[in-house]
Amino acid sequence: MFLCFRKKAYLCSIETPYNNYNMANKIVLTGGCGFIGSHTCVELQNAGYDVVIFDNLSNSEASVVDGIERITGKRPAFYQIDCTNKGDVYQAFQKEGPIAGVIHFAASKAVGESVQKPLLYYRNNLSSLMNMMEAAEDFHLKGFVFSSSCTVYGEPDQSPVDENAPIKPATSPYGNTKQIAEEIIKDYLHTGVGFNAIILRYFNPIGAHPTAEIGELPRGVPQNLLPYVCQTAMGIRKELNVFGNDYNTPDGSCIRDYIDVTDLAKAHVCALDRMVQGKSEEKIEYYNLGTGNGVSVLELVNTFMEATGVNVPYVIKGRREGDIEKIWGNPGRANTVLGWKAQVPLKETLANAWRWQTRLREKGVM
Ligand code: UFG
Repeated sequence: MFLCFRKKAYLCSIETPYNNYNMANKIVLTGGCGFIGSHTCVELQNAGYDVVIFDNLSNSEASVVDGIERITGKRPAFYQIDCTNKGDVYQAFQKEGPIAGVIHFAASKAVGESVQKPLLYYRNNLSSLMNMMEAAEDFHLKGFVFSSSCTVYGEPDQSPVDENAPIKPATSPYGNTKQIAEEIIKDYLHTGVGFNAIILRYFNPIGAHPTAEIGELPRGVPQNLLPYVCQTAMGIRKELNVFGNDYNTPDGSCIRDYIDVTDLAKAHVCALDRMVQGKSEEKIEYYNLGTGNGVSVLELVNTFMEATGVNVPYVIKGRREGDIEKIWGNPGRANTVLGWKAQVPLKETLANAWRWQTRLREKGVM
């Protein structure tokens, strides 16, 4: 159970209201209408935080806020603003009053698109980060959580990878923005700013909320595996292309560490708790967020079919350019220091994703 570790902190924050810490419990989530952002909003609200979402809706829908409200019974504040616009960001901060922390999700995230439009990626992902960090300093925040990715490890020398594994050259402008962002945060914190930072390196987030009120909303043809699997199972796509079965892995397909999105969201609550309660030991801390288990593409497809009873036709295709053969994480530091552990079994995650896909069909979305 997730709360077995966090419960202490959670109960502690109930018994000792945030006012006693003389701090706000309001959190800004940039990209809060996105896949990971929306699930994190739910968990933060469930944990007693007030959430303010900044989202430009470039890759998400305003209706996500309704889904969050249906799950939690509470509507987060929402600003349709682009974090590359510093004036808008500052105006929203001024309006909202004391804020404890920021979780900065907002970013462009399609690896292939980043190769076609590198400047868009560098501009969106880096200028928004700099604006948000300046705001964190100017408005006296306690903590800043940054969404990074296991992409910073490239093709690791060995798995599971821990946080000390070498950073490898990025294989796309998108991956480069994550590496550069980590450097920018490190350099800025080195100047002695008033807030701490936690960098969360996600492995492969998948799934949907068990209520099927929120989930992933890929635009156009999905690039990531599970949304493509779901759409194939629904008959929207004819068949899944499995990119390569000649890798040096037990079944020849690539291996990843698929982490349930609700589990992932809960890790953000633990990270924020740590900073706003003044428990960070380092000015900047890094955590891998994964399950610690490697799962191949074919295993994932077969487990999906078992979990849902729905067939997923697939064909083996050539390797996809830029794919890493195998990577999975060592989440030991997050387990021991943050008190967080992935809990949701893969089958349940896949069933949740399918329930969400079915809900989209019922709503006529796809
Ligand atoms: N895959 C297929 N068919 C598909 C889609 C994917 O076989 O239609 C395979 C890929 O080749 C890969 C695996 O499924 O082996 C996972 O692919 P995803 O696109 O779902 O995920 P990636 O691991 O490539 O990338 C994800 C995120 C990135 C992030 C990266 C970190 O999309 O944002 O993990 O490694 F940077």
